[in-house]
Amino acid sequence: MLSHKKKKLKLETSTNISSIRFRDVTIFIIPIRIQRLRLEHMKKLARKKGFEITDIMSENVTHIVSEFKTKNEVLEHVADKLVINVPSSCEILSMQWFVDCMETESALPVTDKYRLPSEKREEEKNESSSTDERNVEKTEYKNAKYACQRSTPFHHPNHKLTDALEILEKHAEFLTDDHNNARALAFRKASAALKAYPSEIKMMNQVENLKDLKGGQHCKQVIQEILDEGFCSEVERIAGSEWYKIILMFTGVFGCGPVTAKKWFDKGCRSLEDVRKQFFNSLSREQKIGIEYYSDLNTPVRQKEAELIRQIVCDEAVRILPETTVAITGGFSRGKEYGHDVDLLISHPEEGKEADLLHKLLNKLKSLNLLLYTSTKENTYYESMYSATEPRKGHMDHYARCFCVFKLSKSAITAAVSDIDYVDSENTKNSPDNISSFSLHKKIKIEESVKNKDINTKQSTEKDISDNDLCLNKPIREQPIRDQPINKSDITSTSSSSCFFARRVDLIFVPASQYPFALLGWTGSRMFIRSIRDYSRKEKNMILTSHGLYDKTMKKLLTAKDEREIFQHLCLEYREPSERNC
Ligand code: CTP
Ligand code: MN
Ligand code: MN
Repeated sequence: MLSHKKKKLKLETSTNISSIRFRDVTIFIIPIRIQRLRLEHMKKLARKKGFEITDIMSENVTHIVSEFKTKNEVLEHVADKLVINVPSSCEILSMQWFVDCMETESALPVTDKYRLPSEKREEEKNESSSTDERNVEKTEYKNAKYACQRSTPFHHPNHKLTDALEILEKHAEFLTDDHNNARALAFRKASAALKAYPSEIKMMNQVENLKDLKGGQHCKQVIQEILDEGFCSEVERIAGSEWYKIILMFTGVFGCGPVTAKKWFDKGCRSLEDVRKQFFNSLSREQKIGIEYYSDLNTPVRQKEAELIRQIVCDEAVRILPETTVAITGGFSRGKEYGHDVDLLISHPEEGKEADLLHKLLNKLKSLNLLLYTSTKENTYYESMYSATEPRKGHMDHYARCFCVFKLSKSAITAAVSDIDYVDSENTKNSPDNISSFSLHKKIKIEESVKNKDINTKQSTEKDISDNDLCLNKPIREQPIRDQPINKSDITSTSSSSCFFARRVDLIFVPASQYPFALLGWTGSRMFIRSIRDYSRKEKNMILTSHGLYDKTMKKLLTAKDEREIFQHLCLEYREPSERNC
């Protein structure tokens, strides 16, 4: 196995000569301010498209690409750190040139549009400083004890720092012992604090007194190093290590946590194929699906696709039980553009009516051939659980639910996602829940029988999206590292060649009276929920779950007609879902 891997690596580096298409171009990418995985991806992509990329700055380099904003910064960096002068004929370019070359698969001529200016334009200097000042004035950072007391937007200016802390968090989580779990939480808290910071952090003194960073010497060192060097060597080392990359890949398997991932690694597995060969008989149902559809389940779900799935589910549910409501929660309701799954809360205005919907709905979805996997659990909620012992931390809720893998025709997704705008604009003003997805079902059915022709087009479109997104370092942000593409040859999945797409969907069945609590719990983020539960317990002597709020002092359950009222009970300022992205 290892020798096979080595051979492959050798092959990759030696393909250069024969596969270079643009012989006059030798690109050097300055690795500063570019995450390691992104850099690797950029190099791989460029080589695949026939460009020569060199890892060493030399006189042969013809094009330098970087995230620096000015030519002077590049010249200084190369002279100081790489101890070589930039050849006078060498072009010093913005990342946009690289991205456009990848997109057009050609070595684009260099124009002024792509050349970095010698210095920042005066207006830019003024602009950036006044924007910073404005930001600070506009939203002053709230140095609160609990993350739920702060507003944490999805887009924020400190991703470079939070991405690094999240790698450390994940790494600690992978180690699985108590000590490392505590470390993981400390990294998580620190990154949550920075996510709520309203302006770009440039100096250590901006953050050293943040409550969630106070004792965190390690976190501070990481931040300091990134502020000084543009990257943190420890994080780079971890992110580049074989162990981390493989555990990351394994934990991307549906149903595989860090403990199992480590077991697979320790038994010598280095790819999903190894796991399949060595552990096939002991794999759980989830894990088998997780490996078979690895590529699909690790391709981020788009917002419109989530809406399509909601519509399909809602249509069937309403047909079985009129007035049933189906709402998207989870990351999408917090404003995320991509997610790893679709979380749907299913309810009915009349308490208890939703109770026997689960099986009827699942049977219907099965008969439509829309389900690849289901794991159902009946409702196990009972009120006296609050007054007994405290519910264990991180305990799952007690709703009837089904964790599913849906099976959707690829072309139906493409078609539906592009015509969903049309459906929306025609119907949303009335009742989005009642939009008929009959046409979608019909489409799915038709597509099933006609062996799909446009898979190839579709696949290449998706590929391009992810490639270019990574180059630009933009939209797939927040797809945590688990979503990083893995070596295609590691997967022998049938899914990539089939005309279906597998998607994770959580269906939760909620009685009307508990709905606001379920909505709060399932909207997340996990960190926000952890924090608001901590706050309730420690500051208010109340137990908050996805079912209700129990006041231990008064010994009674509090009711709420909406999420706002839950915040009021807790004397907390209300936070919109879009502010709960910690
Ligand atoms: N949740 C829960 N019980 C579970 C799983 C999830 O209460 N068994 C809640 C968590 O509080 C979480 C939310 O449901 O915040 C959504 O979970 P998940 O889908 O894992 O995360 P998202 O925030 O939706 O992120 P993603 O976009 O990756 O799906
Ligand atoms: Mn989710
Ligand atoms: Mn989920």
